Amino acid sequence: MSETLERWGSRRAFILAVTGAAVGLGNIWRFPYIAGENGGAVFLLVYIVFVLLLGLPVMMAEIMVGRAGRRGPIQALGALAAEAGGSRHWRWLGAFGAFTVFCILSFYSVVSGWSIEFLVASINGKFSGATAQEIGAGFDAFLANPGLLVFNHTLFLVMTMGVVAAGIAKGLERLNNLLMPLLYLLLVTLAIYASTTEGFVPALVWLFKPSMALITPTVILHAMGHAFFTLAVGACALMAYGAYMPDKQSLPKAAAAVAVLDISVALLSGIAIFAVVFAQGLDPTQGPGLMFVTLPIAFSELPWGAAWLSVFFLLLLLATWTSAINLAEPMVATLQGAGMKRVKATMAVALGVWLMGLLSALSFSSLADFRPFLGRNVFELVSSIPPDIFLPLGGMLIAVFAAWVMPREKAQEALGNSGWGFYLWLNIVRWIAIPMTFIVLLSALF
Ligand code: TRP
Repeated sequence: MSETLERWGSRRAFILAVTGAAVGLGNIWRFPYIAGENGGAVFLLVYIVFVLLLGLPVMMAEIMVGRAGRRGPIQALGALAAEAGGSRHWRWLGAFGAFTVFCILSFYSVVSGWSIEFLVASINGKFSGATAQEIGAGFDAFLANPGLLVFNHTLFLVMTMGVVAAGIAKGLERLNNLLMPLLYLLLVTLAIYASTTEGFVPALVWLFKPSMALITPTVILHAMGHAFFTLAVGACALMAYGAYMPDKQSLPKAAAAVAVLDISVALLSGIAIFAVVFAQGLDPTQGPGLMFVTLPIAFSELPWGAAWLSVFFLLLLLATWTSAINLAEPMVATLQGAGMKRVKATMAVALGVWLMGLLSALSFSSLADFRPFLGRNVFELVSSIPPDIFLPLGGMLIAVFAAWVMPREKAQEALGNSGWGFYLWLNIVRWIAIPMTFIVLLSALF
C-alpha cells in the first residue's frame, strides 16, 4: 500500500514538473504576439500541426532518453551512445542544449521582470480607469527606463536561482500546479467575457479562419520554433526531468496530457487578448508588448478587475518561475557534471545569465541601436534565433539519437509502450518529425 502511494507520489511529481516547465510566458505572452505578427490563424494552424507531429513525438524522445540514461543529459547521452557503439560526441548535444537555454533564460528573465512590474502596478491600482492608449504609452515609457528593467530582471533571476540553489523546486512546482487551475479559470472567465464584447467575432476570425495565402516560410519557421519553445523541448531540459520518471508511468500519456493543456492555455490567452485588440482597434502586430497592454484593459472591464489582474500576474509569475527553473537546471547540471559544487554552479549560471540579460533589458533604451546581426537588436535576436533555430536543431538531433542510435529494445523499454504504440512513435519520428524539421530549418537558411 505504502509502496503504491509512494509511486503515485513520484508519478504526480513528474507531471507537475513537466507541466511547470511547459506552461509559462510561452503560452500567455509569446504565443499571442508571435501569432499576431505571423498572420493569426495560419500561424495557429501550422503551430498545432507542428506540436502534434514534431513537438509531441520529440518531447517523448527527449524524456525517453533521460529515463533510459537515468543521469544528467550530458552523462546520459554519453553513456547511452557508448552502450550502442555510437560516437561519444553525442555528449555535445547536452552542451548545445545548455547553451540554448542560456540564451533563452537571458530574455525570459527580462520579460518575467515585466510581469513583476505589472504585478506591483496592478496592486497599486495603476490601471484603474486607464484607456488603452494610456496603458500602451505607460508600457513604452517603462521599457525606456533601463534602471527599472534591470532591477526587475535582477529580482526575477535571484528568485529563480535561489530556488535552484536551495533545491526546493519540487515545492514550488506543487504550489504552481495547485494554483494553475485558478490561472486557467481566470483565462476561461476572460474568454467568456470576451464573447460578450464586439471584439470577439473578429478575434475568432483572426485566430481560426486561416487565409492560406499568408503561409510563408517565415511563418512556418516561427510556428515550428514556437511549438518546441512552448513544450520546453529541444534543449535537453526535459531530458533532465525524465531521469527521475518512475518506471511504471506511461510516458506517451503524460506527454500528450501536457501538450493538450499547453495548447489550450495558449488558445484561451489568444482569445482574451485578440478580443481586446479588435474591440479597441489596436494593432495585432505590435510585438512583445501585446499581452501587457491588452490584459489590463480586459480585466478592467470585469467586476473587481484590479484585484483579479493582480491575482493573474501573481499566478503568471508563478508559472513563469517554474519554467525558468527548468531553463536553469540543464546549465547547473552541466557545471556540476564538470565537478563544480551546486551552489557555486548556480552562482556562475546566475552571473552569466544576468550579464547576458542586461543586453536584452537595454535593447529598449541605451542599446536600441546596437544591432549586431540581421539588423536586429539583442532582445530581438535572443528571443528569435534560439527558439526558432537552436531548439528545432537540438530537438532534431535528440530525435535522431532516440530513433536511430539507441538500441531499439532500450528505446522501447524507456518509452514504456510495447507493440504498435512504439512503432507508431518510431515511424513518426523517423519519417515525419526528423525530415520535416530538417526541411524547415534548411529552407530558413535560404
Ligand atoms: N515552455 C516554457 C514557456 O512556454 C519555456 C521553457 C521552459 C523552455 N523550459 C524550456 C523553452 C526549455 C525551451 C526549452 O514559457
